[in-house]
Amino acid sequence: LPLTLGCLIFGYLLGSIPFGLILTRMAGLGDIRSIGSGNIGATNVLRTGNKKLAAATLLLDAMKGAAAAAVASRWGIEAGVAAGFAAFLGHLFPIWLGFKGGKGIATYIGVLLGLAPVIVLVFAAVWLAMAKLTRYSSLSALVATLVVPVVLLAAGYGKIGLLFVVMSVITWIKHRANIQRLLAGTEGRIGEKG
Ligand code: G3P
Repeated sequence: LPLTLGCLIFGYLLGSIPFGLILTRMAGLGDIRSIGSGNIGATNVLRTGNKKLAAATLLLDAMKGAAAAAVASRWGIEAGVAAGFAAFLGHLFPIWLGFKGGKGIATYIGVLLGLAPVIVLVFAAVWLAMAKLTRYSSLSALVATLVVPVVLLAAGYGKIGLLFVVMSVITWIKHRANIQRLLAGTEGRIGEKG
């Protein structure tokens, strides 16, 4: 139990670092939460027009999930799952921002990289195909996070597959405003200024 608790705290603290908020503030772009969708993630950072900052947000938000999962995995798969899940929850519900964090897609990819790296290719293929077809970041992520747990479970990833079922459900709930905008036809396309 102390190990699991340690993994949860380590993962949460790493995951709760809001890189999108920090980077945009450092770049003098103001508060990212008052731009576009108000989200702190890479998709919304791109709405500032700064592609490098958006890429850095994606990378760093992913790496915190990857680092948490990969480091903890040294103590076994359950430790990796616990730390990865905690990092994901840390991104979504950071104590520093009154538990109002992001939607978790970059961190989801990072945790996947840490626990089942080859399946990142599945995420990337689905996301890129959907993004090319629709130019919706949210829809691309919703479809990719639908496919990934199915592939994981079908490929025999067991506990990791179950973790991604849970993470997908949580991120869909976090995307509910995006889903409403998609249905209403008012969702912003990738790179569109908000
Ligand atoms: O999955 C992409 C999601 O993060 C959408 O972000 O800013 O369009 O709500 P945003």
